[in-house]
Amino acid sequence: MPDESDSPSDIEVIKQRKKEGIFIPLTRNVQAKESSTYLEYIKLIHNALPEIDYDGVETTQNFLDHNFKAPIIIDSMTGGTPEATKINSRLSLLAEKFGLGMGLGSQRAGLLSSELSETYSIARSNAPSAFLVANIGGAQLSKGLKIEDIKNMIDMIEANALVVHLNPLQELIQPEGEPKYKGVLAKIKDICANVDIPIIVKEVGAGISMEVATRLESAGVSAINIAGSGGTSWAGVEKLRAETSHDINKINLGELFWDWGIPTALSLMEVRNSVKIPVIASGGIRNGLEIAKCIVLGANMCGMAFPFLKQASKSYESLCEFTNKTLSELKGTMFLVGCKNINELGKSRFIITGELAKVKKWII
Ligand SMILES: Cc1cc2nc3c(=O)[nH]c(=O)nc-3n(C[C@H](O)[C@H](O)[C@H](O)COP(=O)(O)O)c2cc1C
Repeated sequence: MPDESDSPSDIEVIKQRKKEGIFIPLTRNVQAKESSTYLEYIKLIHNALPEIDYDGVETTQNFLDHNFKAPIIIDSMTGGTPEATKINSRLSLLAEKFGLGMGLGSQRAGLLSSELSETYSIARSNAPSAFLVANIGGAQLSKGLKIEDIKNMIDMIEANALVVHLNPLQELIQPEGEPKYKGVLAKIKDICANVDIPIIVKEVGAGISMEVATRLESAGVSAINIAGSGGTSWAGVEKLRAETSHDINKINLGELFWDWGIPTALSLMEVRNSVKIPVIASGGIRNGLEIAKCIVLGANMCGMAFPFLKQASKSYESLCEFTNKTLSELKGTMFLVGCKNINELGKSRFIITGELAKVKKWII
């Protein structure tokens, strides 16, 4: 179990924080303000003679020995509050129906009580064959979370993989945050050696650099989810939470670092060029054209969080509609560049323009 010091009132605090973590992104604008994913600087090459039929375009992908019907993961979001049950229930039904992957939110709360563990385990009940990903924070690891606790989280959803999320920016701004990252890499290495499912390390919207990617690969992680900047800003979410608690210092930091991070396209390019392990692109991806661009840049899979949350808060039907629209955009792009499958798409040519072309020569 987690800290001996966790009391019923701690559980209430965690439930409240998880609830705000869902409602703030849904009711306030916490997307990037002045920065972007840089995906707009990637241009794909139109193929006037594709020599394939739209109906023959295949979006299936194999990732970490699992077959997906499309290279899409519903990125790690929620659990740990009763409000999350409905969302996780709808998302997992979607993952099962469309053959997508799904990440659960940080699961420490699920270890505290069976009531809270059900907010996560509903996903496996609804999605017996989907690729489900357990989740824990790097900051929790540095506090001494045991391998046994991690195994309990994995069992809670019979996970196919475990995500360790790195969120130093969020911990810095969060009113009750714990910006303690000493020893996290050694813990990740320990988990890789002692847990028998693949370990994926992800950011939460500030991106992964090539130096960090190289260290993670050496530690033994199976895949990296770059979660670059340009989409949901966790500095933004925590700034709004700090306003409620009138924490002037955190409000200032949240505003200053709202757009902090490595834009998604840039992070993806430098991570792809520095490691051999599979890479998931995410952070501000909003449609099927952007998914195609990320695959062209070398991503094996793409993650989206906020777009799925928005539809899940409406209804299961809205989620299905959004997913069909996204798949149609992805397939449409593949047809227009003349690629009949994801493997071919990954090898297709592209052009880098604008700001990304300028910074690329300094970074890669
Ligand atoms: C409501 C919400 C809750 C989230 N909770 C988690 C979490 O518990 N663990 C995690 O690794 N990432 C979490 N994230 C971050 C996302 O997985 C993702 O990295 C980030 O939102 C950027 O993707 P987006 O721009 O598509 O939203 C959360 C995101 C949202 C919107």
